[in-house]
Amino acid sequence: PSTIDPSTIDGTAPVANPAHPEIDWNTLGFSYIRTDLRYVAHWKEGAWGEGKLTEDNVLHIAEGSTALHYGQQCFEGMKAYRAKDGTVNLFRPDMNAARMERSCDRLLMPHVPPEMFIDACKQVVAANLRFLPPYGTGGSLYLRPFVIGVGDNIGVRTAPEFIFAVFCVPVGPYFKGGLSPVNFIVSDYDRAAPNGTGAAKVGGNYAASLLPNQEAHARGFGDCVYLDPETHTKIEEVGSANFFAITHEGRFVTPKSPSILASITRQSLLVLARDRLGMDVEEGDVFIDNLSAYKEAGACGTAAVITPIGGIQYKDDFHVFHSETEVGPVVRRLYDELTGVQFGEREAPEGWIV
Ligand code: COI
Repeated sequence: PSTIDPSTIDGTAPVANPAHPEIDWNTLGFSYIRTDLRYVAHWKEGAWGEGKLTEDNVLHIAEGSTALHYGQQCFEGMKAYRAKDGTVNLFRPDMNAARMERSCDRLLMPHVPPEMFIDACKQVVAANLRFLPPYGTGGSLYLRPFVIGVGDNIGVRTAPEFIFAVFCVPVGPYFKGGLSPVNFIVSDYDRAAPNGTGAAKVGGNYAASLLPNQEAHARGFGDCVYLDPETHTKIEEVGSANFFAITHEGRFVTPKSPSILASITRQSLLVLARDRLGMDVEEGDVFIDNLSAYKEAGACGTAAVITPIGGIQYKDDFHVFHSETEVGPVVRRLYDELTGVQFGEREAPEGWIV
């Protein structure tokens, strides 16, 4: 167990940590690695108890837990970065806290107060500093906060008790190759219903993506592109990430829809593209039969960071954007800007780095 005081990662002073001796930081992918300590808090009789760090990575929960039967659970994805100056950065954790509150509202679960959420994340990072990939490797410490409904129950109703927990895993790129193009295929399945849970970060959305994903992989694609469930004419998102594209005129466009997950990376790119790259930005329609209007495209999310999209298969057509092997210049600049802020190489907009 770590003896590092969590308050030491709160300032601007560099925090030294011995790097984990057995991890090869340069070949990290997106796989589970058990880290030292995780945070667990219980909600009973209307209030959260005091959260604790524990070495135990197994949860012992009631067989009737609503999380197991009725999917009453939500989660977040965020990252801690070892910055260039040696400090440890969290990227916009207030946005994750707020999104988790919205997910909890949608699934009738109690809010985790933002201060509790951010404090838990800091504690987990501080307690697992030896797993934080060193600056320059491109890796980061992925944080997975989640809320689950637990306790004795059988009917379809909200749970009598809840658990809020946060664990972490050192990660590299989500899609193999990192900043290199991946091909996607438009799925025949819908990811979300018009007034469903698409905007909430809930496990059911991801469980429903497993089969489409497997079918996409079997055909040699990295992931699926989902269309809007109402008309099947517009791109919604990529399931594991959001979608954006760059028009030939140089405009940054990302779908506007009430049923996509509100990616914090996407929201940040809208700001960076406008303020740092001087681009016109738009949340609007990306019609699947009009892909030739775009010179570059990408998937964006906490795990995916920015993954360039080489091409998209739609029915019998395969549309290539910039290239299937080379990263487009605008996607590269966006990537440099975003990761530059996250790794403390570029000035962060006010409040983005904790
Ligand atoms: C994230 O980007 O953090 C996610 O939760 C996406 C998931 C597919 C790993």
